[in-house]
Amino acid sequence: MSPHTHHDAAATFALGGTLTIPRLGFGAMQLPGRWGGPAVPREAAVAVARRAVELGVRHLDTAAFYFSANDILRTALHPYPSDVTIATKVGPLRDASGEMYGEARPDQLRELVEENLRQLGVDALDLVYLRVGRLDAVGGVPIGDRFAVLAELRAAGLIRHLGVSNVSRAQLDEARAIAPVAAVQNQFGVLDQRDAVLVDLCADAGIAYMPFFALGGSRAALAEANLMTVAERHGATTYQVAIAWGLARSPSIVQIPGTSSLAHLEENMAAAQLVLDEADMTLLDTGAPDSTRQ
Ligand SMILES: NC(=O)c1ccc[n+]([C@@H]2O[C@H](COP(=O)([O-])OP(=O)(O)OC[C@H]3O[C@@H](n4cnc5c(N)ncnc54)[C@H](OP(=O)(O)O)[C@@H]3O)[C@@H](O)[C@H]2O)c1
Repeated sequence: MSPHTHHDAAATFALGGTLTIPRLGFGAMQLPGRWGGPAVPREAAVAVARRAVELGVRHLDTAAFYFSANDILRTALHPYPSDVTIATKVGPLRDASGEMYGEARPDQLRELVEENLRQLGVDALDLVYLRVGRLDAVGGVPIGDRFAVLAELRAAGLIRHLGVSNVSRAQLDEARAIAPVAAVQNQFGVLDQRDAVLVDLCADAGIAYMPFFALGGSRAALAEANLMTVAERHGATTYQVAIAWGLARSPSIVQIPGTSSLAHLEENMAAAQLVLDEADMTLLDTGAPDSTRQ
Protein backbone atom coordinates (compact mmCIF):
# COMPACT_ATOMS: atom_id res chain seq x y z
CA MET A 1 0.00 0.00 0.00
CA SER A 2 1.08 3.56 -0.57
CA PRO A 3 2.49 5.53 2.37
CA HIS A 4 -0.30 8.01 1.60
CA THR A 5 -2.84 5.73 3.23
CA HIS A 6 -0.74 5.04 6.29
CA HIS A 7 -0.71 8.13 8.43
CA ASP A 8 -2.60 6.39 11.25
CA ALA A 9 0.29 3.95 11.59
CA ALA A 10 2.69 6.88 11.92
CA ALA A 11 0.57 9.16 14.07
CA THR A 12 3.54 10.43 16.03
CA PHE A 13 6.86 12.04 15.18
CA ALA A 14 10.03 11.82 17.29
CA LEU A 15 11.20 15.42 17.41
CA GLY A 16 14.98 15.53 17.38
CA GLY A 17 14.77 11.74 17.57
CA THR A 18 13.72 11.91 21.23
CA LEU A 19 10.60 13.96 21.94
CA THR A 20 7.60 11.98 20.67
CA ILE A 21 4.61 14.11 19.67
CA PRO A 22 1.34 13.36 17.89
CA ARG A 23 1.45 14.74 14.34
CA LEU A 24 -1.61 16.90 14.87
CA GLY A 25 -0.64 19.88 17.00
CA PHE A 26 -1.95 23.40 17.43
CA GLY A 27 -0.84 26.87 16.32
CA ALA A 28 -1.40 29.53 18.99
CA MET A 29 -0.97 32.63 16.82
CA GLN A 30 -4.74 33.10 16.48
CA LEU A 31 -5.43 32.81 20.22
CA PRO A 32 -5.08 36.51 21.07
CA GLY A 33 -7.22 37.30 18.00
CA ARG A 34 -6.62 37.60 14.31
CA TRP A 35 -3.44 39.49 13.45
CA GLY A 36 -4.54 43.11 13.36
CA GLY A 37 -8.16 42.08 13.98
CA PRO A 38 -10.46 42.04 16.99
CA ALA A 39 -9.15 40.59 20.24
CA VAL A 40 -10.44 37.22 21.45
CA PRO A 41 -11.75 37.37 25.05
CA ARG A 42 -9.02 36.00 27.27
CA GLU A 43 -11.19 33.31 28.93
CA ALA A 44 -12.24 32.06 25.49
CA ALA A 45 -8.61 31.86 24.33
CA VAL A 46 -7.60 30.02 27.51
CA ALA A 47 -10.50 27.57 27.02
CA VAL A 48 -9.37 26.80 23.46
CA ALA A 49 -5.80 26.03 24.59
CA ARG A 50 -7.08 23.75 27.38
CA ARG A 51 -9.50 21.97 25.06
CA ALA A 52 -6.71 21.42 22.53
CA VAL A 53 -4.73 19.47 25.10
CA GLU A 54 -7.87 17.59 26.25
CA LEU A 55 -8.40 16.55 22.65
CA GLY A 56 -4.90 15.15 22.35
CA VAL A 57 -2.71 18.05 21.22
CA ARG A 58 0.78 17.64 22.65
CA HIS A 59 2.61 20.19 20.51
CA LEU A 60 1.72 23.88 20.64
CA ASP A 61 3.38 26.49 18.46
CA THR A 62 3.76 30.01 19.79
CA ALA A 63 6.02 33.10 19.88
CA ALA A 64 6.57 36.10 22.12
CA PHE A 65 5.77 38.25 19.08
CA TYR A 66 2.25 36.73 18.84
CA PHE A 67 1.03 39.38 21.26
CA SER A 68 -0.30 37.56 24.39
CA ALA A 69 -0.12 33.99 23.02
CA ASN A 70 2.63 32.87 25.43
CA ASP A 71 0.74 34.30 28.35
CA ILE A 72 -2.48 32.56 27.29
CA LEU A 73 -0.69 29.20 27.05
CA ARG A 74 0.86 29.68 30.46
CA THR A 75 -2.47 30.61 32.05
CA ALA A 76 -4.19 27.67 30.37
CA LEU A 77 -1.63 24.94 30.85
CA HIS A 78 1.03 25.75 33.45
CA PRO A 79 2.35 23.55 35.06
CA TYR A 80 2.58 21.89 31.67
CA PRO A 81 1.89 18.14 31.49
CA SER A 82 5.25 16.39 31.01
CA ASP A 83 4.32 15.18 27.51
CA VAL A 84 3.30 18.62 26.22
CA THR A 85 5.90 20.31 24.04
CA ILE A 86 5.87 24.01 23.27
CA ALA A 87 7.69 25.46 20.31
CA THR A 88 8.52 29.13 20.14
CA LYS A 89 10.38 31.39 17.74
CA VAL A 90 12.81 34.24 17.88
CA GLY A 91 13.97 36.58 15.15
CA PRO A 92 11.44 39.30 14.35
CA LEU A 93 11.52 42.49 16.38
CA ARG A 94 8.18 44.05 17.26
CA ASP A 95 7.41 47.48 18.66
CA ALA A 96 4.83 48.23 21.35
CA SER A 97 2.05 48.66 18.77
CA GLY A 98 2.72 45.20 17.38
CA GLU A 99 4.44 46.34 14.19
CA MET A 100 7.36 44.16 13.11
CA TYR A 101 10.28 46.42 12.32
CA GLY A 102 13.23 44.21 11.62
CA GLU A 103 15.29 41.16 12.43
CA ALA A 104 17.18 40.62 15.67
CA ARG A 105 20.95 40.79 15.49
CA PRO A 106 22.89 37.85 16.94
CA ASP A 107 23.57 39.80 20.15
CA GLN A 108 19.82 40.38 20.68
CA LEU A 109 18.77 36.72 20.48
CA ARG A 110 19.60 35.68 24.04
CA GLU A 111 17.29 38.37 25.40
CA LEU A 112 14.48 37.13 23.14
CA VAL A 113 14.99 33.54 24.31
CA GLU A 114 14.91 34.71 27.92
CA GLU A 115 11.69 36.63 27.22
CA ASN A 116 10.09 33.36 26.08
CA LEU A 117 11.40 31.47 29.12
CA ARG A 118 9.89 34.11 31.39
CA GLN A 119 6.55 34.39 29.60
CA LEU A 120 6.07 30.63 29.36
CA GLY A 121 7.34 30.03 32.91
CA VAL A 122 9.89 27.34 32.11
CA ASP A 123 13.60 26.76 32.72
CA ALA A 124 14.22 25.39 29.23
CA LEU A 125 12.33 25.73 25.94
CA ASP A 126 11.44 22.48 24.11
CA LEU A 127 11.94 23.85 20.59
CA VAL A 128 13.09 27.27 19.44
CA TYR A 129 13.04 28.30 15.80
CA LEU A 130 15.20 30.98 14.33
CA ARG A 131 12.44 32.63 12.31
CA VAL A 132 13.86 34.74 9.51
CA GLY A 133 12.16 37.20 7.18
CA ARG A 134 10.11 35.94 4.30
CA LEU A 135 12.00 34.46 1.38
CA ASP A 136 11.93 37.03 -1.33
CA ALA A 137 14.99 35.94 -3.25
CA VAL A 138 16.60 32.66 -4.13
CA GLY A 139 18.52 31.38 -1.14
CA GLY A 140 17.72 34.16 1.31
CA VAL A 141 20.35 35.81 3.49
CA PRO A 142 22.91 33.82 5.51
CA ILE A 143 21.65 32.78 8.95
CA GLY A 144 24.76 31.12 10.38
CA ASP A 145 25.77 33.86 12.83
CA ARG A 146 22.27 33.98 14.31
CA PHE A 147 21.75 30.22 14.38
CA ALA A 148 25.12 29.77 16.10
CA VAL A 149 23.87 31.91 19.01
CA LEU A 150 20.85 29.63 19.44
CA ALA A 151 23.16 26.61 19.27
CA GLU A 152 25.18 28.11 22.14
CA LEU A 153 22.00 28.64 24.17
CA ARG A 154 21.09 25.02 23.51
CA ALA A 155 24.51 23.90 24.71
CA ALA A 156 23.93 26.02 27.83
CA GLY A 157 20.68 24.10 28.52
CA LEU A 158 18.17 26.90 27.79
CA ILE A 159 16.83 25.17 24.66
CA ARG A 160 16.24 21.44 24.01
CA HIS A 161 15.80 21.42 20.24
CA LEU A 162 16.48 23.90 17.46
CA GLY A 163 14.45 24.77 14.40
CA VAL A 164 14.50 27.18 11.47
CA SER A 165 11.55 28.97 9.95
CA ASN A 166 10.93 30.67 6.59
CA VAL A 167 14.14 29.21 5.23
CA SER A 168 15.51 28.11 1.89
CA ARG A 169 17.40 24.89 1.29
CA ALA A 170 20.68 26.85 1.47
CA GLN A 171 19.75 28.36 4.82
CA LEU A 172 18.71 24.95 6.18
CA ASP A 173 22.04 23.46 5.07
CA GLU A 174 23.88 26.35 6.70
CA ALA A 175 22.08 25.74 10.02
CA ARG A 176 22.62 21.99 9.91
CA ALA A 177 26.34 22.51 9.53
CA ILE A 178 26.30 24.32 12.90
CA ALA A 179 23.95 22.19 15.04
CA PRO A 180 21.22 19.56 14.60
CA VAL A 181 17.97 20.98 13.22
CA ALA A 182 14.94 19.20 14.67
CA ALA A 183 12.24 21.11 12.79
CA VAL A 184 11.58 23.35 9.81
CA GLN A 185 8.57 25.67 9.79
CA ASN A 186 7.79 27.04 6.35
CA GLN A 187 4.63 27.87 4.44
CA PHE A 188 3.16 24.75 2.87
CA GLY A 189 -0.28 23.35 2.35
CA VAL A 190 -2.60 21.77 -0.14
CA LEU A 191 -3.10 25.16 -1.83
CA ASP A 192 0.58 26.15 -1.71
CA GLN A 193 2.89 23.26 -2.49
CA ARG A 194 5.89 25.36 -3.58
CA ASP A 195 8.06 24.03 -0.75
CA ALA A 196 7.63 20.36 -1.74
CA VAL A 197 11.35 19.71 -2.22
CA LEU A 198 12.18 20.85 1.29
CA VAL A 199 9.32 18.76 2.71
CA ASP A 200 10.81 15.65 1.13
CA LEU A 201 14.32 16.57 2.21
CA CYS A 202 13.11 16.89 5.81
CA ALA A 203 11.48 13.45 5.63
CA ASP A 204 14.76 11.94 4.40
CA ALA A 205 16.72 13.69 7.16
CA GLY A 206 14.31 12.88 10.03
CA ILE A 207 13.51 16.58 10.48
CA ALA A 208 9.94 17.54 11.42
CA TYR A 209 8.29 19.81 8.88
CA MET A 210 5.66 21.97 10.58
CA PRO A 211 3.82 23.87 7.85
CA PHE A 212 2.28 27.22 8.63
CA PHE A 213 -0.87 28.35 6.79
CA ALA A 214 -1.83 24.71 6.15
CA LEU A 215 -5.41 26.02 6.15
CA GLY A 216 -4.61 28.89 3.84
CA GLY A 217 -3.69 31.49 6.47
CA SER A 218 -5.94 34.53 6.22
CA ARG A 219 -7.69 33.25 3.07
CA ALA A 220 -11.42 33.91 3.45
CA ALA A 221 -12.56 30.29 3.03
CA LEU A 222 -10.99 27.06 1.84
CA ALA A 223 -13.22 26.60 -1.18
CA GLU A 224 -10.94 25.41 -4.01
CA ALA A 225 -12.73 23.00 -6.38
CA ASN A 226 -10.62 19.83 -5.94
CA LEU A 227 -10.53 20.31 -2.19
CA MET A 228 -14.32 20.54 -2.19
CA THR A 229 -14.59 17.38 -4.31
CA VAL A 230 -12.43 15.37 -1.90
CA ALA A 231 -14.28 16.81 1.09
CA GLU A 232 -17.61 15.74 -0.41
CA ARG A 233 -16.30 12.21 -1.10
CA HIS A 234 -15.50 11.79 2.58
CA GLY A 235 -18.34 13.77 4.13
CA ALA A 236 -15.64 16.01 5.61
CA THR A 237 -14.92 19.73 5.53
CA THR A 238 -12.24 21.27 3.31
CA TYR A 239 -10.32 22.21 6.48
CA GLN A 240 -10.25 18.57 7.57
CA VAL A 241 -9.07 17.52 4.12
CA ALA A 242 -6.30 20.16 4.19
CA ILE A 243 -5.07 18.79 7.52
CA ALA A 244 -5.32 15.13 6.47
CA TRP A 245 -3.61 15.93 3.16
CA GLY A 246 -0.50 17.20 4.94
CA LEU A 247 -0.37 14.18 7.26
CA ALA A 248 -0.63 11.90 4.23
CA ARG A 249 1.76 13.95 2.10
CA SER A 250 4.83 13.33 4.25
CA PRO A 251 5.63 11.34 7.41
CA SER A 252 7.65 14.35 8.60
CA ILE A 253 4.72 16.76 8.57
CA VAL A 254 3.41 17.79 11.97
CA GLN A 255 0.32 19.96 11.53
CA ILE A 256 -0.16 23.12 13.59
CA PRO A 257 -3.54 24.45 12.40
CA GLY A 258 -4.51 27.68 14.11
CA THR A 259 -7.89 28.69 15.44
CA SER A 260 -9.44 30.65 18.26
CA SER A 261 -12.75 28.83 17.87
CA LEU A 262 -13.71 25.79 19.96
CA ALA A 263 -15.92 24.45 17.17
CA HIS A 264 -13.14 24.77 14.59
CA LEU A 265 -10.70 23.12 16.99
CA GLU A 266 -13.00 20.09 17.44
CA GLU A 267 -13.45 19.87 13.67
CA ASN A 268 -9.72 20.11 13.03
CA MET A 269 -8.83 17.46 15.61
CA ALA A 270 -11.31 15.04 14.03
CA ALA A 271 -9.21 15.25 10.84
CA ALA A 272 -6.74 12.82 12.44
CA GLN A 273 -9.27 10.08 11.62
CA LEU A 274 -9.63 11.11 7.97
CA VAL A 275 -7.59 8.89 5.66
CA LEU A 276 -7.21 10.06 2.07
CA ASP A 277 -6.68 7.53 -0.71
CA GLU A 278 -4.48 7.58 -3.81
CA ALA A 279 -7.21 9.13 -5.95
CA ASP A 280 -7.67 11.97 -3.47
CA MET A 281 -3.94 12.60 -3.27
CA THR A 282 -3.59 12.62 -7.06
CA LEU A 283 -6.41 15.12 -7.39
CA LEU A 284 -4.84 17.40 -4.79
CA ASP A 285 -1.27 17.19 -6.13
CA THR A 286 -0.51 20.43 -7.93
CA GLY A 287 2.55 19.09 -9.73
CA ALA A 288 6.13 20.28 -9.93
CA PRO A 289 7.55 22.22 -6.98
CA ASP A 290 8.73 25.77 -7.47
CA SER A 291 12.48 25.63 -8.00
CA THR A 292 12.91 29.28 -6.98
CA ARG A 293 12.20 28.22 -3.40
CA GLN A 294 15.20 25.94 -3.16
N1 LIG B 1 6.81 30.80 11.08
C1 LIG B 1 6.04 31.71 10.55
O1 LIG B 1 6.49 32.62 9.87
C2 LIG B 1 4.56 31.60 10.78
C3 LIG B 1 3.68 32.46 10.08
C4 LIG B 1 2.33 32.31 10.32
C5 LIG B 1 1.85 31.36 11.22
N2 LIG B 1 2.72 30.55 11.91
C6 LIG B 1 2.25 29.48 12.83
O2 LIG B 1 1.38 28.63 12.13
C7 LIG B 1 0.15 28.49 12.83
C8 LIG B 1 -0.96 28.35 11.82
O3 LIG B 1 -1.11 29.55 11.08
P1 LIG B 1 -2.49 30.36 10.99
O4 LIG B 1 -3.32 30.07 12.17
O5 LIG B 1 -2.17 31.78 10.69
O6 LIG B 1 -3.12 29.78 9.66
P2 LIG B 1 -3.96 28.44 9.38
O7 LIG B 1 -3.61 27.33 10.28
O8 LIG B 1 -3.86 28.26 7.93
O9 LIG B 1 -5.46 28.92 9.80
C9 LIG B 1 -6.03 30.01 9.11
C10 LIG B 1 -7.38 30.38 9.57
O10 LIG B 1 -8.30 29.30 9.43
C11 LIG B 1 -9.35 29.45 10.35
N3 LIG B 1 -9.81 28.09 10.68
C12 LIG B 1 -9.12 27.15 11.37
N4 LIG B 1 -9.85 26.02 11.43
C13 LIG B 1 -11.00 26.26 10.75
C14 LIG B 1 -12.14 25.48 10.46
N5 LIG B 1 -12.23 24.22 10.88
N6 LIG B 1 -13.15 26.05 9.74
C15 LIG B 1 -13.07 27.32 9.31
N7 LIG B 1 -12.00 28.12 9.55
C16 LIG B 1 -10.97 27.59 10.27
C17 LIG B 1 -8.79 30.16 11.54
O11 LIG B 1 -9.68 31.17 11.98
P3 LIG B 1 -10.69 30.92 13.22
O12 LIG B 1 -10.00 31.41 14.44
O13 LIG B 1 -11.89 31.71 12.83
O14 LIG B 1 -10.98 29.44 13.29
C18 LIG B 1 -7.48 30.76 11.04
O15 LIG B 1 -7.51 32.15 11.08
C19 LIG B 1 0.04 29.77 13.66
O16 LIG B 1 -0.79 29.59 14.77
C20 LIG B 1 1.47 30.00 14.04
O17 LIG B 1 1.76 29.24 15.20
C21 LIG B 1 4.07 30.66 11.68
